[in-house]
Amino acid sequence: MRIAVLSESDLAETRVAATPETVKKYKALGADVTVQAGAGTRAGIPDADFEAAGAAVAATGAEAAQDAEVVLKVARPKPSELAFLKPGALLIAILNPYGDNALLKALADAKVAAFAMELMPRITRAQVMDVLSSQANLAGYRAVIDATAEYGRAMPMMMTAAGTVPAARVFVMGAGVAGLQAIATARRLGAVVTATDVRPAAKEQVESLGAKFVAVEDEEFKQAETAGGYAKEMSAEYKAKQAALVASHIAKQDIVITTALIPGRPAPKLISREMIEAMRPGSVIVDLAVERGGNVELAEAGKVVDHNGVKIVGHLNVPGRLAATASSLYARNLYAFVETLIDKNTKTLAVKWDDELVKATCLTRDGAIVHTAFQPTA
Ligand code: NAI
Repeated sequence: MRIAVLSESDLAETRVAATPETVKKYKALGADVTVQAGAGTRAGIPDADFEAAGAAVAATGAEAAQDAEVVLKVARPKPSELAFLKPGALLIAILNPYGDNALLKALADAKVAAFAMELMPRITRAQVMDVLSSQANLAGYRAVIDATAEYGRAMPMMMTAAGTVPAARVFVMGAGVAGLQAIATARRLGAVVTATDVRPAAKEQVESLGAKFVAVEDEEFKQAETAGGYAKEMSAEYKAKQAALVASHIAKQDIVITTALIPGRPAPKLISREMIEAMRPGSVIVDLAVERGGNVELAEAGKVVDHNGVKIVGHLNVPGRLAATASSLYARNLYAFVETLIDKNTKTLAVKWDDELVKATCLTRDGAIVHTAFQPTA
């Protein structure tokens, strides 16, 4: 059984899908591992480190994948890469299939069994495979570091001989995995932190981190969490009440970090141009939802926009800004899943196609789209 680790064709993708640590673990399961040359370079892992862990290094992706039964990547492959995957191979990556029928068709046509890691159910058994959590956690941390770097003032209160410096006021919108880590990080840096969310469960979590919870807590708010723990799209009436609350709060903030997402839908717009214009020059907004349409009206993907002195940070692939740490956690998430697909006695692939983790993540197989949520509409 051979596992291939491909390098990322998108230059903005700095992460890698395996590390020397996980290569050793795959070897211990009886697999051979081939890594495409240079795959780990941007995450600080030279080819020699993969070789020292027992992997072979192949010059090209085609060579690495030619006889691989399992192919690991971070982001979705390009069509040219799909062309060299072996029919029947398992492709495991963050595939981002929502609304992308062309991708689903290409995966089916390539006859690969494509697994989208971000669809892993959030059940106890799969926590160790939860790439959304491992990467969002780092994004939340990095958002605060990026905001701090753009902010022309200090974060903590400082009492100096020349006088007192006030603590920065940080507001975190969306208190899921990324938001909670942003709160914890901003608190560690000494900021005064407030946070909001539409899910009632977030209130206690925010408060347990020492931040103040600010939200419209009406009847709709009490029902806003789905059985899966995610937020629902809120009504126009709720959004209007939320906007009024946010508008008055935001004008007093130095740094705002937005992380609000709704699965399978565009990110909710939470900060308008008027709200930005009410903030003081020198304030910083970091929009972590920018890749999914953004929470902030003037945010631009991949840019830092300056609007009347307010900086709006829209970095893409924020976990990739911590490529080494993000790769090490992502690689462990993948290993934990791949381990469940292998028979430890025979040391061969033995995918249980009716396992709930497989069913939840497998998009295509044997030339067809098999995932119930992604069936083509006539
Ligand atoms: P997410 O990335 O989908 O969304 C981020 C946050 O934005 C969420 O907290 C959501 O409620 C919030 N949000 C959405 N619309 C909003 C709006 N209009 N205004 C303000 N906030 C808004 O969510 P994430 O981070 O993936 O976590 C969702 C939940 O799942 C959390 O409760 C988390 O603790 C839970 N979770 C459970 C896991 C498990 O294994 N049981 C693992 C990871 C997370």
